[in-house]
Amino acid sequence: MDNKLKLPLLVLLLNCFLFLALSQTASNDDVEALNSLKDSLQINIPSWVGSDPCSGSWEGITCKNSRVVSISLPNTGLKGQLSQNIGSFSELDTLDLSYNKDLTGPLPAEIGNLKKLTKLSLVGCGFNGQIPDQIGSLPQLVFLSLNSNNFSGRIPSSIGNLANLNWLDLTENEIGGEIPVSPGLDTLLKAQHFHLGKNKFSGEVPSQLFSSGMALLHLLLDNNQLTGEIPDTIGLVQNLTLIRFENNTLSGLVPQSLNNLTNVADLILCNNKLEGPLPNLTGMSSLKYLDLSSNAFDSTDFPQWLLTMKNLTTLRMQEANLSGQIPAGFFSLPSLQYVVLSENQLNGTLNLGPNYSKKLQLIDLHSNSIGDFTQQNQPPSFTIVLESNPICYETGTTESFCKPLQISDENPQNKCPASGCSSDKSLSPMCHCAYPYTGTVTYRAPSLYDWGNSTSIEADIKQALQSGGLPVESVVSSTRDSNPFECFDFIIKIFPLNKDSFSPSEIYQMSLVLLNLSAYRPYDFYPDKIEPKQLSNSSNTALLIGVAVGGSFVLVLLLLAGVYAFRQKLRAERAISRNNPFGNWDPSKSNCGTPELKAVKQFSFKELKKCTNNFSPANDVGSGGYGKVYKGTLPSGQLIAIKRAQKESKQGGLEFKAEIELLSRVHHKNVVSLVGFCFEEGEQMLVYEFVPNGTLKDTITGKSGIRFGWHRRIKVALGAASGLAYLHEHADPPIIHRDIKSNNILLDEKLDAKVADFGLSKPILDYDKDHVTTQVKGTMGYLDPEYYISQQVTEKSDVYSFGVLMLELITGRKPIDRGKYIVKVVRNSIDKTKDMYGLHELIDRAIRDGSALNGFEKFVDLAMMCLEESGADRPPMSDVVKEIEIILHSIGLDPAADQSEPSTSSSFQHNEVSLESSHQPYSSESLYSSSEYIQKHHEHEPR
Ligand SMILES: *[C@@H]1O[C@H](CO)[C@@H](O)[C@H](O)[C@H]1NC(C)=O
Ligand SMILES: *[C@@H]1O[C@H](CO)[C@@H](O)[C@H](O)[C@H]1NC(C)=O
Ligand SMILES: *[C@@H]1O[C@H](CO)[C@@H](O)[C@H](O)[C@H]1NC(C)=O
Ligand SMILES: *[C@@H]1O[C@H](CO)[C@@H](O)[C@H](O)[C@H]1NC(C)=O
Ligand SMILES: *[C@@H]1O[C@H](CO)[C@@H](O)[C@H](O)[C@H]1NC(C)=O
Repeated sequence: MDNKLKLPLLVLLLNCFLFLALSQTASNDDVEALNSLKDSLQINIPSWVGSDPCSGSWEGITCKNSRVVSISLPNTGLKGQLSQNIGSFSELDTLDLSYNKDLTGPLPAEIGNLKKLTKLSLVGCGFNGQIPDQIGSLPQLVFLSLNSNNFSGRIPSSIGNLANLNWLDLTENEIGGEIPVSPGLDTLLKAQHFHLGKNKFSGEVPSQLFSSGMALLHLLLDNNQLTGEIPDTIGLVQNLTLIRFENNTLSGLVPQSLNNLTNVADLILCNNKLEGPLPNLTGMSSLKYLDLSSNAFDSTDFPQWLLTMKNLTTLRMQEANLSGQIPAGFFSLPSLQYVVLSENQLNGTLNLGPNYSKKLQLIDLHSNSIGDFTQQNQPPSFTIVLESNPICYETGTTESFCKPLQISDENPQNKCPASGCSSDKSLSPMCHCAYPYTGTVTYRAPSLYDWGNSTSIEADIKQALQSGGLPVESVVSSTRDSNPFECFDFIIKIFPLNKDSFSPSEIYQMSLVLLNLSAYRPYDFYPDKIEPKQLSNSSNTALLIGVAVGGSFVLVLLLLAGVYAFRQKLRAERAISRNNPFGNWDPSKSNCGTPELKAVKQFSFKELKKCTNNFSPANDVGSGGYGKVYKGTLPSGQLIAIKRAQKESKQGGLEFKAEIELLSRVHHKNVVSLVGFCFEEGEQMLVYEFVPNGTLKDTITGKSGIRFGWHRRIKVALGAASGLAYLHEHADPPIIHRDIKSNNILLDEKLDAKVADFGLSKPILDYDKDHVTTQVKGTMGYLDPEYYISQQVTEKSDVYSFGVLMLELITGRKPIDRGKYIVKVVRNSIDKTKDMYGLHELIDRAIRDGSALNGFEKFVDLAMMCLEESGADRPPMSDVVKEIEIILHSIGLDPAADQSEPSTSSSFQHNEVSLESSHQPYSSESLYSSSEYIQKHHEHEPR
């Protein structure tokens, strides 16, 4: 049997075992309904094995108390019609079947039975027919995304019952009729988003739609068949930031009440039949993007009030009946980038003035009556188009500004040396033939897109996917180059890193990330249909790891083996990137969004070789899964610890770079800090500050020779908690550690704790803090059961691990000791009626027989709060810090003391800490972390 098959089988067996061992199985109704869903939609997901959807292994299914609470299956190739059985998941909170183009037919009325539903997302499917009336009977609904389907008919007025709705997206359907009000959209006071563009809505925009109680931010009614006037009442909706009415047949005057809307950044009214004088919008002081093109306004001079719009970046008034001269002062607006005033009767001299905006990219004045152009001594570097103006009739078309707007067709892919790819693969910017994941990005709020920075959208998507752990080489947009100033839709291609294609599970993960992005970014993503040949065959092992906490030692062993094998497999699969991502590394330069890297140094291999005495065995202070750790001394005298990756642990260059970027931003006294790195001669090394007193684990187990008393243990807990609270709440971006354990807490010269090892850390994705879906990583015994059942990691997973660590400090035992799980043992033994909660027998001998354990009960209480089953019930780390400080105060110790104490040997010699001279040999028990930092020898001799 090859290795690829062994693991899934093992895990499969494991799951069956778990299924038998644990009585927590899904309720019968849910099982039946899910099986019927599976059949009717031809769901073919490898991880859906066994008969229990709540076993934790079923990809996309989340359970709570044996009921299915979330079905999240975007881009998983569902086919057919949604059956009425969907109504049986009465505990369902989230239903997300987006990006399944072959999911067709009507949305069944039984959807109305899902009384607990908060999120219904059917983006980019093939649904048709009328949206059922029963949509209005979902009292908890917050997100309703039906965009890009074939829904027709009208919006049911029952939608007005959705009192909690925040997000309504019906974009790109065939929904017609009038916009329903009273009852209808006007009662959705909590809604912040009405995305109703690209439909067939007709009739007038009802004036009852708007009121001062509305929380609405984004109003998109573009590309419909609306007629009549824009109602005056729109001025009541104070919080609006985006208004789009383009491409309708609206007429009448632009309401002056718009001047009430001081938060609107984008106002797009082009392609209508608006008439009368051009509006004076001075009051809309936040306007950045204004488009009044192609209406029926009266002829007027260039409006003077535009000179007061300090934040304007884009002005589009094509075909707006403008005449006279453009005042030179206009071009001095500091943020101005794009000015499109073509097809008017502007005349006189074009004068940019001496202080024109440094951000200007384009001034398009084609088809006007401009006779002269005052140039300063230096011709401007941006594009000016004066084609079809008298000035160009006179001078001929030799001047560059007399040429029509050049549509550049530059394709970055053409820079590759070799010619095209075989079959239907595409060439990536790094000249690698692959099947990209493709789709269309549609802009909702153009002002939020920096049209000048050609990298922003691609970089944004790439960063989001990479921080979701996905192997993305590059993201390119293809149509944007051909139409740089016009379009709101781009086709983008996402190329896999070091392989031909993405696996189905990666497609699924990407879809989740991109769907989530839509809610936090001014664009939507609609993927193209995935053809089977675009998929790699790699097995879906990642999603097969379904685990649950069990009491049985055998199970735990199997799990350990599974997690280990899985990690080994990942490691082996990781190809080593041949590209040097540090090629143009300039630590002093920080692009927008790129982290500050000034603090870390790039070491040469030579330097590190020298300061470790050629990596001599004498300087080898430990090793772990990642490779060896060497102690070194920099020429400045600073002690450093160098983690040198062994062959199997090396990451792709880009991943390595990402890790450094992450680590370089972390600065806290209770967190081990990165000094630098080396990426040279095939080496990958991370250089850390040297932490002299080894791991907490070695101290608890007695290996390091340091002995801790009770008070020191509380202080170490405080240090570790503070470091972790910093990572969660103050690091930028926030970091979930994901492998908190005593092995990863180091002790400095004052025996204060420092959190180490971010090899497994991930930034918390900023667009969806609550649901970062990942593969399960961590160390058994410390793993949060909720995390490995749901595969959704949150900060609360670290809080759980920290709770385990607290029990370790109390008991001196390993989390899983002779088949017993410490959490369970303590939980079952607590008797609050007794002294010390009746835990005498479990307390570490090293502290049990000493002085009284003041604050013990409170410490246990706090640990048990961290170990609550549900993450929501656990305290955030900052509260844990506060609680430990309170414990220290209550026993008469100042939490801040000791930190400033000089590091002398005598401070180790009082009864809190004692030293033994023997060195215990190092042994690695923790194979499951990729970058162990375990020290063999310790610098604890009195100096
Ligand atoms: C408008 O926004 C402010 C600030 O975010 C908020 O406090 C207020 O409640 C909002 N108004 C409405 C009507 O929701
Ligand atoms: C402007 O907003 C205020 C506060 O919501 C409101 O009272 C007023 O009627 C609005 N004016 C117009 C012209 O809509
Ligand atoms: C306006 O709508 C028509 C069809 O309704 C469409 O073909 C056209 O592209 C739209 N124009 C813009 C500028 O969106
Ligand atoms: C535009 O309106 C503002 C405020 O209502 C007023 O002060 C200004 O004079 C007007 N400007 C023009 C050119 O009408
Ligand atoms: C212009 O933008 C800046 C920064 O984006 C903002 O602080 C300021 O309030 C805006 N000005 C106006 C008049 O809205």
